[in-house]
Amino acid sequence: MSSGASFGLAKCVQYAAFAATMIVGIASGSEAQDVCTQDTYTITTQSDADALGSCNNITGLITVQSDTLTSLTLNGIQRLDGSLTISSCAALTEISAPQLQWINDNFTLSSLLQLTNLSLPTLETVQMAISWTDIPLLTSPNLKTKGVDAYGNPGTNIYGDLTISDTGIETLDFFNFGSFSRVGDVSVTGNKDLKIVNMSSLVTSSLLEFADNGESFQVLLPKLTTAEGLSLQDVMQFDISSLTTLSATLRLEDNTFQVFELDQLNAIGGDVIVRGNQMMNKFSLPLLTEIGGGIYSGDFVIANNSALTALDGLGKLAAVDGSTNLSGNLYNSDISKYPNRYSCGTSGTSTDTAIHYHPPSSGPAIPKATKVVIIIVCIVAALLATGIGLRWWAKRRRRGRVPEEPPISLRELGVGEEEEGEGVDGLPPYRRMGKPGEVPPGYKARESPQTRTQIPPPPPARLRGIRGTVAGWRSTFIRLPSRHEETAHGV
Ligand SMILES: *[C@@H]1O[C@H](CO)[C@@H](O)[C@H](O)[C@H]1NC(C)=O
Ligand SMILES: *[C@@H]1O[C@H](CO)[C@@H](O)[C@H](O)[C@H]1NC(C)=O
Ligand SMILES: *[C@@H]1O[C@H](CO)[C@@H](O)[C@H](O)[C@H]1NC(C)=O
Ligand SMILES: *[C@@H]1O[C@H](CO)[C@@H](O)[C@H](O)[C@H]1NC(C)=O
Ligand SMILES: *[C@@H]1O[C@H](CO)[C@@H](O)[C@H](O)[C@H]1NC(C)=O
Ligand SMILES: *[C@@H]1O[C@H](CO)[C@@H](O)[C@H](O)[C@H]1NC(C)=O
Repeated sequence: MSSGASFGLAKCVQYAAFAATMIVGIASGSEAQDVCTQDTYTITTQSDADALGSCNNITGLITVQSDTLTSLTLNGIQRLDGSLTISSCAALTEISAPQLQWINDNFTLSSLLQLTNLSLPTLETVQMAISWTDIPLLTSPNLKTKGVDAYGNPGTNIYGDLTISDTGIETLDFFNFGSFSRVGDVSVTGNKDLKIVNMSSLVTSSLLEFADNGESFQVLLPKLTTAEGLSLQDVMQFDISSLTTLSATLRLEDNTFQVFELDQLNAIGGDVIVRGNQMMNKFSLPLLTEIGGGIYSGDFVIANNSALTALDGLGKLAAVDGSTNLSGNLYNSDISKYPNRYSCGTSGTSTDTAIHYHPPSSGPAIPKATKVVIIIVCIVAALLATGIGLRWWAKRRRRGRVPEEPPISLRELGVGEEEEGEGVDGLPPYRRMGKPGEVPPGYKARESPQTRTQIPPPPPARLRGIRGTVAGWRSTFIRLPSRHEETAHGV
């Protein structure tokens, strides 16, 4: 009896406690508790997430980590004054936060190997960094594209760093890069299906890194004027045409563009590293005066750019603050033009293993005027040579004609034809052209039969053969038709 009474009492107390909890719960639920504050909210199950459903605004960090969680919905949360980190959830395929508008700190997603669906349809502002890494199956996140955030910028805005690495993402256009100009470091690497990053209004940034993304990857930063560093790797096209200042390093590696030319860039505070750009045949920074000069070392490295044969786009570069390492077939790139000015307390080395084909004194360094003169002289010489050659040929023709014509006369005379040369000299010339017996008026004046017998000197032995050949050729190709003509006329 006593045991039963104590049991009943205990049960009663339990029920009362439960009822009290229920009442408090309902009360707090109906009030829709505005702000929940706690250092860290750790979520491993969906019910952990549901427990936050009554908090519209949360101050604190939310971290989600679970090997078994397959789907996560953050209901009710509108604003997070803290960061949201969802990482290493091996089975997680879906994440959704239907009311979330604002994340005041970082938004990190990492190592979510099964995640395919990310739905954040009201997210306007990430006040600090977005870092999404190792999410290979995520191709098209669903983000807000309409409406404006508290700063008046449309879509989803990031006001800190942006890191998108090793994801399946095909486009970043869901982020608003279109109408605002502030973002921190940008690192977009290893996204094999991403073909373009178009940050069309970005004016200033810090470090910009693009590497190992999709084939024929394009980087469009047409309004970017200042940044800390810029690193392009495996990029095929770019527009960085407004860039004037880099306070840190410019790095170009393994790109597939042919021309790298930034004609506004006048300052690089760090290194210039240009390596392995197999297609690049032009590297031009015409306004750049110095490499380094800031807090960075200012090395200048050119290596493994197999199509680059000249470093002639650096007309104003007068100093390199660190080491200069040049290699390749760099024609017309004199390392002595870039004297080192090692920064305080540092020392550097300059190695120049490039093959420069240093022109002696009359190579490509010839002034334009001289080149013009040389060309003119060459043309004149060529004309002279042609003239002399023609005269010589004409003389030969004339000389050749003298012994050549008579055989026709021989034919007409019915005399057996002699082979050629001196043997025909004594025969009566040119009779077929005139009436028999008639001698052209000028003929006697020019040459007498006597001179004709003597004037053509016996050609040197080696010429005789040529003359024989020429005469033979003439008799075949020139004289024969003329004979046919004659017979044709005659008939
Ligand atoms: C809760 O978040 C919303 C949405 O960001 C905001 O408008 C509201 O001022 C916040 N309330 C409090 C008490 O911080
Ligand atoms: C936010 O991310 C940045 C890097 O982008 C990091 O430096 C910072 O410490 C992070 N903040 C927090 C609270 O984790
Ligand atoms: C998940 O994402 C895929 C495409 O990525 C989409 O076709 C599908 O409708 C999404 N599922 C849900 C529940 O949103
Ligand atoms: C880049 O974005 C701007 C504005 O958002 C747009 O006008 C332009 O067409 C885009 N360019 C490409 C190649 O997508
Ligand atoms: C040039 O390329 C070769 C082979 O890819 C590599 O071994 C070498 O380290 C590269 N040199 C530089 C300076 O990058
Ligand atoms: C320049 O070349 C030297 C020797 O070839 C090497 O020790 C040094 O690390 C190189 N510097 C850079 C910045 O590549």
